[in-house]
Amino acid sequence: MTINKATHGHWSSRFAFILAATGSAVGLGNIWKFPYITGENGGGAFVLVYLLCVVLIGIPIMIAETMLGRRAQSNPIEAMQQLTDEAQADKNWRYLGWLGVIAGVLILSYYSVIAGWASAYIFKDLFGSFFGIDATQSQTLFDNFTASPIQLIFWHSVFMAATMWIVAKGVNNGLEKSVRFLMPSLFVLLFLLVGYAMTTNSYQQGLDFMFNLDFSKLTGNAILTAMGHAFFTLSLGMGAIMVYGSYLPKDVSIAKTAYLIAAADTIVALLAGIAIFPLVFEHGLHPASGAGLIFQTLPIAFGNMTGGWLMGMLFFVLLVFAALSSSISLIEPAVAWLVENKNFTREKACLWTGLGTWFLGLGTVFSFNIWKDVVFFDKNIFQLLDYLTANVMLPIGGFAIAVFAGYIMKREHTESELQMPCTQSYDVWRILVRYVAPASIFLVFLHVVGVLG
Ligand code: TRP
Repeated sequence: MTINKATHGHWSSRFAFILAATGSAVGLGNIWKFPYITGENGGGAFVLVYLLCVVLIGIPIMIAETMLGRRAQSNPIEAMQQLTDEAQADKNWRYLGWLGVIAGVLILSYYSVIAGWASAYIFKDLFGSFFGIDATQSQTLFDNFTASPIQLIFWHSVFMAATMWIVAKGVNNGLEKSVRFLMPSLFVLLFLLVGYAMTTNSYQQGLDFMFNLDFSKLTGNAILTAMGHAFFTLSLGMGAIMVYGSYLPKDVSIAKTAYLIAAADTIVALLAGIAIFPLVFEHGLHPASGAGLIFQTLPIAFGNMTGGWLMGMLFFVLLVFAALSSSISLIEPAVAWLVENKNFTREKACLWTGLGTWFLGLGTVFSFNIWKDVVFFDKNIFQLLDYLTANVMLPIGGFAIAVFAGYIMKREHTESELQMPCTQSYDVWRILVRYVAPASIFLVFLHVVGVLG
């Protein structure tokens, strides 16, 4: 297989990589998904497990995945093939690249539909739909919107087209610049929303929900969801960070960048939760209302505070941008593979992957209306896709990445690639990636399938 390294660009600096990787990490996962799954899984104890997973599993695997990409300097499928050859390992390791490419496409198919909701909400705000709105009206607004396949398809199409257009232009072009102002603005807006939440009577109740530990609510599935979310929110386990790592200059410290990215990502998620739960309780909404949670709560805040019209618009615009900088990393592995290994032009690769993903997304669109009642194992198509990717495929991918980096790659290679400031930190990473991360993933799986009771 020939690979055209000339098509393989590089970030202009360490800062550019941090921006892009943070852009990939921070997205709907933090602002839309984290609050609603926290609500569904009972709050504090779930949040604690999620934080533990970020530190003990997420960060070491993020270091490992970035390292694999940088060492191989190519797309996940090709990277796994090269690294397998270098380590003279079993050929089957190359399927890891495939698993990632498929997971990315599946995730993007529903990610784009939800990002479409956020896009539609920019205009709902603009046209004053939130003015003076109460909880019931906000729920009706959301229900009517999601009941319409045409509207959902329209916004899903707009978002997919925007994603593929950016990807077609190449990763280093469009993206670096936009994330630079996006992340700080998103932080500011979230802080303002937290400030608003503080003015409500339910602020303390919201905090209690998020941080008081009640382990009775922590089912096996809740633990799996928390772990899956650690992968999802950090963009791990499917090759996105591997591709970004492959564009990383050789002299950059991978570990330090990983801490920064994980910290920024976690802070955004916690701020989103702190902003949203007080509103949920203040307006008598239910924390476990599911995927619509932020779309039902935030309009009430925007519709009733001074300057809310402007803030609402800014918020949803920023959310869509944050989603865009994530969605491009979901499809980049597939596109890079088609371009580097199958001689597609970038445009053609984008067109085909985009159309395929768009089509798959219809399953999610219909899960909220005409196929609402099509359920398998108690889950509609959207929930099934989310479960399969976040709770199954990403942890399996992450497990394999940890094992590959910890056992298959030669110690000299990982040590020289990581260039940790001291041997102790290298050793800590190696213990996490060899024992702690794989064992935790394995135990959580065993627990869910019932072997551990
Ligand atoms: N991390 C993003 C979010 O939280 C979603 C995402 C982007 C992702 N790229 C990924 C998830 C790769 C898993 C794998 O919104």
